[in-house]
Amino acid sequence: MSARASALPDFPWDLLEPAKAKAGAHPDGIVDLSVGTPVDPVPALIRRALADASDAPGYPLTAGTPALRAAIAGWLARSCGASGELGVLPTIGSKELVAWLPTLLGVGPGDTVVIPSVCYPTYEVGVLLAGGTVVRSDSLTAVGPARVKLVWVNSPSNPTGRVLPAEHLRKVVDWARERGAVVASDECYLALGWETRPVSVLDDAVTGGDYTGVLAVHSLSKRSNLAGYRAGFVGGDPALIGELLAVRKHAGMILPAPVQAAMIAALGDETHVDEQRERYAARRDTLRTALVKAGFEITHSEAGLYLWATRGEECWQTVDWLAERGILAAPGAFYGPAAAQQVRIALTATDERVAAAVTRLTT
Ligand SMILES: Cc1ncc(COP(=O)(O)O)c(C=O)c1O
Repeated sequence: MSARASALPDFPWDLLEPAKAKAGAHPDGIVDLSVGTPVDPVPALIRRALADASDAPGYPLTAGTPALRAAIAGWLARSCGASGELGVLPTIGSKELVAWLPTLLGVGPGDTVVIPSVCYPTYEVGVLLAGGTVVRSDSLTAVGPARVKLVWVNSPSNPTGRVLPAEHLRKVVDWARERGAVVASDECYLALGWETRPVSVLDDAVTGGDYTGVLAVHSLSKRSNLAGYRAGFVGGDPALIGELLAVRKHAGMILPAPVQAAMIAALGDETHVDEQRERYAARRDTLRTALVKAGFEITHSEAGLYLWATRGEECWQTVDWLAERGILAAPGAFYGPAAAQQVRIALTATDERVAAAVTRLTT
């Protein structure tokens, strides 16, 4: 294996294969609540826009078409409360940006990147790809004198569902600016607030229209069921966005033209987002009730696509307990050493499969 590949952790989902096999042996089939992959249809207006743009023989613009850039900027102004002058850039889903942002920003050996103590694994992978040093911390005062180049925040959080208030985000931005660090806020679950309304780092309440050193990372995968299209974008500091564009143009990190057209349609419509949110809300209510009845404790989970649950035991024991009932969940260990007793239960299964899980948990 190359030095680059061997510097990376095991691909977490491979470790779940034995539990998947066990859950798959259930006579009524597996209920897979592990990966948060959307299962509901792509809304018709988005599919139409994709099809209408399918005659696309020429190279698309890395920066996105002017119409897409306007659609992204308009959405960020409306949905994130950003009144200032923003730079915007489409990305090939948000995972690639998370994985490559440290490299694109020039993070290297000797540079530190701060990531949440319990978080989406790709933040760490991106730092390792760049050759930097990862510090897991939710408190910047605990970081010490390290040369911090980049701070990731993720609200609503995957996996915990925790939401960071505007005041917290403002403190992070102030802290980073004092040190010349960039703040990247991964907001791909912003549309999915249940008990709390999530706030964007671009909200005037956080940045007051000055986005210096600030980037907000967004995705249409969850909001619009577009995980298969690979449709994401980043908005914020125009100078930083210009730097990202300069490198990405050379590297061929270009969003396909039909997907660019589909994104314009998706960003111009909130009705399908409201409908999808209703589906997830109903699944969340029934699953939550059933898990509590089965003896689980649910923490955070006030927003996002997951229930963050524990039975007060080692997470792999809980994964096994669920697998015996034909239910597959993600172990907290995937998300950081501080989550060894948690499991993450995704809301991304059909109503029929969620009903099957509820029956298995409560009888
Ligand atoms: C926190 C977080 N960021 C980014 C992503 C990547 O999403 P995508 O690449 O589909 O935009 C995910 C996917 O689950 C996620 O949970």
